[in-house]
This record gives sequence, C-alpha cells and structure tokens, in this order.
Amino acid sequence: MSTPIVAPATLAHERVAEPQMRKAARCAMVILGAGGDLTRRKLMPALAHLACDGLLDPESIIIGGGRDNYTDDSFRAAMSDALKSSDEIKVTDGPELTRFLGMLRFVRGDLKSADTYKAVTQRVAEFEGEDDSEAGRLIYLAIPPSLYLDAARRASESGLVPRTVRDDKKWARIVIEKPFGRDLDSARALDKLLLSLFSEQQIYRIDHYLGKETVQNILVLRFANSIFEPVWNRNFVHHVQITAAETVGVEHRASYYEESGVIRDMFQNHLMQLLTLTAMEPPNAFDADAVRGEKAKVLGAIHPIAPEDADDMSVIGQYDAGEVNGEHVIAYRDEPGVAKDSRVPTYAAIRFTVDNWRWHGVPFFLRSGKRLAKHATEIAVQFKEPPHSLFRIRGGLPIERNVLVMRIQPDEGISLRFETKVPGVDVQMAPVRMVFNYADAYGQSTHPAYETLLLDCMLGDATLFARWDEVEASWRIIDPIIDGWKNPGLVKLPNYTSGTWGPSAADALMAKDGAAWREP
Ligand code: BG6
Repeated sequence: MSTPIVAPATLAHERVAEPQMRKAARCAMVILGAGGDLTRRKLMPALAHLACDGLLDPESIIIGGGRDNYTDDSFRAAMSDALKSSDEIKVTDGPELTRFLGMLRFVRGDLKSADTYKAVTQRVAEFEGEDDSEAGRLIYLAIPPSLYLDAARRASESGLVPRTVRDDKKWARIVIEKPFGRDLDSARALDKLLLSLFSEQQIYRIDHYLGKETVQNILVLRFANSIFEPVWNRNFVHHVQITAAETVGVEHRASYYEESGVIRDMFQNHLMQLLTLTAMEPPNAFDADAVRGEKAKVLGAIHPIAPEDADDMSVIGQYDAGEVNGEHVIAYRDEPGVAKDSRVPTYAAIRFTVDNWRWHGVPFFLRSGKRLAKHATEIAVQFKEPPHSLFRIRGGLPIERNVLVMRIQPDEGISLRFETKVPGVDVQMAPVRMVFNYADAYGQSTHPAYETLLLDCMLGDATLFARWDEVEASWRIIDPIIDGWKNPGLVKLPNYTSGTWGPSAADALMAKDGAAWREP
C-alpha cells in the first residue's frame, strides 16, 4: 500500500467564486409515475436543489401523474417527507423549500388510460394560460420500461408533447430513463416509435452517470490540461481498469433485475459511458454533437466479442450469502422475488479492446457487481513500467506501475501513484500516492447528478445525454456477450461470497495480461 500525499486545496478555491450562469426559464415539468421510488429518491431532491439554488423559474410547476391516491396537498406532504429522508439534499425546511413544495401538483389516473393524459394536458394548458404564454414542457417517464411505448404514444396523441422541430421558447421534451430496450432489436423498436412521434432534439435519453461531477471531470482532466494527453495512448498505457462496485444487493427490484442482470443494468449504459469518456479523442467543441460524435466513434471501434469467445473475454458471477459491512446478508437466489435457480449474473468482468490508432493492444477491463467488499466507482489508468530499473525496491517487491485513478464515488477525487526514494543512505524506492480530494478542495457541497441533468433538459443542452447511435452501438457490443452466457452449463452459480471482490475467475482474466485488479 502506498502512502498518500494530499494535494493542497488552496489553488482550487481561488477560482470557484463565479456565479451560476445557467437558469431554467418558466416551464411545466410532468413526472409520469410520480408515486415511484425514482421520484422520491432522485428527482425530487434534484428539483428541490435546483429550486433552492435559484435555478428554477419560481413560476414553473411540477405535475406528478400516476395511480396513487394523492391530492395536490397530500402529494406535497409526501414529497416533503421524501426530502427529509433523502441523503441527497441538506435543505429540509425554510422559505425556499416551502416555495418549491408550492410548485407541486398531482393528477391522479391510470397511465394506461388516454383520459389521464388528457387531464394532465389540461392542467398544463391551464398553467400556460389563455394567452398561450411562452413556457416549455418537460415530460419525464419515471415508469417501468414495459410502459414506455404506450406512454410515449399517449403523450403524443393527447397533445402533451407536440412534435416540434426546433427548440424555441415553447419547447416540449421527453425524458426516458434507462434501460433503453433490453437488446438491440427492442431498443430499435422503441427508437423507431419515438422518432415517429417526436424529433430527435426532443428526446433525452438519460444516463445518470453522465451527470456526476466526477464523470464530467474526466473531460476536464484530459482536455483542460496539457500533461496527460501526450501519455494517454498505447505507447504509455499498459491497461485501464474501470470498476463500479456496490455493497447493496438487488434491494426491492427483483422483478426488474431478474430481467436485466448486471450486464444490461450497468455495462450497456454506465460502464460503456465511462469507457468512452476515457478513450475518446478530443472533441472540437464542448457541445452535444461534437462530444457525442467522439464517444460514438469509440463504441464503433470496440472489438466485438463473439458469443463463443464470451467465456474467454468475460467472467460472470452471482452473490451467495455472506457478510457486508459487518452484517449477514442472504444469497441473491434467496432475495424476495428471485427464482431459486436464477442464473442472472449480479457480477461481471469484461475485457475489451479498442481497435484504433490510439488504443491498439491496450486492454480495458470493466467490472461491476452487487454485494462486493466496498462501494467504489473508479477509473484507473495503469501506465507501463520503466523499461529498465536502476534502483533497488524496498523489501525486494516488484516495481509498481504508475497509476492515475479518477475516483467517481465516494470520496470523489484523483490520485497519482509514483515511485520515491526512501530516506536513508541507500537508494531504495517505495510508491506514494498524491491525492486530490474534491471535498477538501471545494467543500462538501456536491450536488446530485440528476440536478445537472434536469437543468440541462430544461435548457435544451443534450451534451450529457446518450444519442441514439451510442445506444445502438452499445447494444451491438453487449448483445453477443449476453448470448454467449446463455449456455447454462458453463459456470456454477452462485460463485462469490457477499462481501468479497467477486469470483476468482476475474483475477485469472486479468492475469493473462500481466495485470491485477486494484482494491479501490
Ligand atoms: C442504476 C442501476 O442505474 O445505477 C442500479 O439500475 C445501480 O442497479 C445504480 O445500483 C448505481 O448508481 P450509483 O449512482 O449509486 O452508482
């Protein structure tokens, strides 16, 4: 283990006083499926944050729609309770929050019935007023993916989301949560339907990883500094490891998870996005087309893994009972709603290569799992060893590679490991870590990923949203791997104890390239 050296925070503070420039104009946001978990846990804290930061127009309204037995007032009370139990927001009372709660409305109805959409549209029209004043409409589908097609069709037919070709002040946009389809064919069918109802500029495919501060910082680190880019390629990089480790299990989402498993749930979207941001070429501007264009090129260059190669290039796992954070936890197969013989993977590690000039021959190892030893998401760029070692290493240990770690969560920050001389008359080396920590540099005030993304939707900035060609390319990569793992005889599941770092086969996957997983 290397010794951390903490970077001073003063330089960062000198430049953060700029006021927030971007504010949303008056609009009506409609959350379809507002009684669900996503609204309580993510959307409401993010919207409350925006309102309390003065970034929402105070005349905007937020309409929840769904079958729940709420009136405007009881919806406000329920959302106020949700904010109190949220760990994503610190303001839980005061005049700003009261004003925010006053923006909330509720329309009760079955989301499969046309009448509900009519009632919601009516409520939005009342808000817009008889003079048809300028205001945007943001429709958020916080509903199970099986309802997307129907909801999108009804939102269009009722006039709730009229088709527009350009984003003027009377805009209408629709936000769709992942998973965007469950394979390439279903994703195509969904996209085809959406494009028959709306223009591409109206569709916002959300991947909340892209709203994380530290994920956006990958681009800043790479392209606002000149020292990293010259070494960011196959000449210097030995391999890249991307880890999204969770300690939580499947929670209350067994019916969804049994259908998706870790590859659809985490790889097709979040991990692929992290890979593209790490591997992309510099875009010529920080705008939606340029950034997404470069990301799509990376996906297009990823070497396809054929189904018959899946077991060579990837490892799957499922958690067994064990201990996490000092508490006994049950096996995946014993979770409520999970089949006793389920073969759904809760862990996967996959070795990708990117067939282009910059990355030829550099493996990108991606792993994600539930019930692992620690909650940590990071990207570690491991550099090649020096060609010749002049110095003795302390304790006769092997030389450690230089590693640049972009820590996405928790303890957001960046660290760099390098060798130093151990004080003394002998010349001996030992590795140290230089650490930049967001909280130390900028204080604790990180804001939820959804806050950035919801504001972007209201402003019409799609840079941090997935474009259709990215989604399509990503399914093209993932589908054959899922197919390859359909053969039930291949791996015995469950194959890792909860609270560990996953199946041992994942170590063997890396060892073939002379690499080993870091313990974040
Ligand atoms: C979601 C997945 O998209 O991301 C969940 O559906 C997962 O299974 C979650 O737990 C992880 O998000 P975060 O922000 O906690 O890393």
